[in-house]
Amino acid sequence: MIASGGTDRCGSFGLGAGPASFSARFMIRTFLCCLAFFLGLDGTASLAQNTELRFVTWKSEAPEVWNQAIADFERQNPGVKVVSEIGPQSSTQLHDLLTQKLRNRDTRLDVFVMDVIWPAEFASAGWALPLDRYFTPLEREKFLRAPIEANQYRGQIFGVPLFIDAGLLYYRKDLLEKYNSPPPRTWPELVKTAKTVLAGERDPNLIGFSAQFKQYEGLVCNMMEYILSNGGALWDEKRMVSALDAPQAQTAVRFVRDHIVREISHRGMLAYEEPESLALFTQGQAIFHRNWPYAWSVANDAANSKIAGKLGMTPLPGFSAGGGVATLGGWQLGISRFSQKPDLAWRFATFMSGPEVQKRIALATGRAPTRLALYDDAELAKQIPQLKSLVETFKQAVPRPRTPVYAPLSNIMQRYFSSVLALPNTDVNARSALAARDMDRVLDLLRDRQSP
Ligand code: GLC
Repeated sequence: MIASGGTDRCGSFGLGAGPASFSARFMIRTFLCCLAFFLGLDGTASLAQNTELRFVTWKSEAPEVWNQAIADFERQNPGVKVVSEIGPQSSTQLHDLLTQKLRNRDTRLDVFVMDVIWPAEFASAGWALPLDRYFTPLEREKFLRAPIEANQYRGQIFGVPLFIDAGLLYYRKDLLEKYNSPPPRTWPELVKTAKTVLAGERDPNLIGFSAQFKQYEGLVCNMMEYILSNGGALWDEKRMVSALDAPQAQTAVRFVRDHIVREISHRGMLAYEEPESLALFTQGQAIFHRNWPYAWSVANDAANSKIAGKLGMTPLPGFSAGGGVATLGGWQLGISRFSQKPDLAWRFATFMSGPEVQKRIALATGRAPTRLALYDDAELAKQIPQLKSLVETFKQAVPRPRTPVYAPLSNIMQRYFSSVLALPNTDVNARSALAARDMDRVLDLLRDRQSP
């Protein structure tokens, strides 16, 4: 740890060993320590010389802003070098990379980005450092409620929120106006409008809907929105049993396969994560698009998007008007329990999630801040006018269930959803019963662990 190095440094100057030299050594040592103190070179700073802080993250949409923030932190902390390891963009793949390091108790990992669904797992496995002694209740009040809750597990807090996500519907305003269609309020309405526009446009490159239907975490986020807005659930959190085999969930999954994918999208969508599905939309090849808040800025960037100025954004549809559900997403910064520099790691985490850096990230990428005050920031309001109205969506967004066994449950759900969407003739009832059985086995383990 940083401070503990101070005495070592002042304690050994190699000035001979005999008793005669003791008082001389003592005086010189005292003099040098005082000098170092007055020059601001106390123990903390001296050990900080050549101190590496290892940060595992993904590639930001605006790496220059991210790098600049890191450079600013290094400047403010002389001697500290932040070494970034850029992992995969996909939440599922980054999870694999990080959990491997944490399982190995890798001391060369200090700070990491953490998806909103990970804190419970990382906490219960003893991988993430509890941050309570740093992250005071007063400080937590400066953040949106939902991500703070998502970072808590059994009364402790394990992450500091960086940005928040919630599912949104984007649409081609120009095309909807051309066909006198209002933004859809229900999924069946969306399918109908898409068919009208497609029939009128007769453009072989245009599809009705693009979203994230690849087998990975994004698929769970998307499917949860259909299932919950149809009155279903992923699993029953009270009884701890899967709900995928309930009729509401089965109907919603069938709807996505038979109407969304088959009628107004294409099978290529089954391989799309956020970047590919967004690229299709920004190239003008989709009428509707489901994504997180940052997609607004990307799609409105005239330098890279063919539809800048032609899009609208609205809450996701439901199966009844006003019954839409948005999945809560977002990213945090966590600190490894095996870090040898937790104080410095915290200093870095607070800097990167501080108001200034969050604002810079929001301005450059459209990522929605987690700090409440930024929703009243004049510059942000000017550049991202929809930000203020999003607060309501964030408040209503539904978190994925918080549990240490989220990863295996998600894995079962991903395989189930993907197989149904890919195979038009799958027997949804039978397949969902199998997935539910597998989920129940995992949930049983949890119940056993929780019982006294
Ligand atoms: C976004 C969300 C995250 C979610 C992921 C799925 O990054 O913030 O919570 O798990 O998308 O692709």
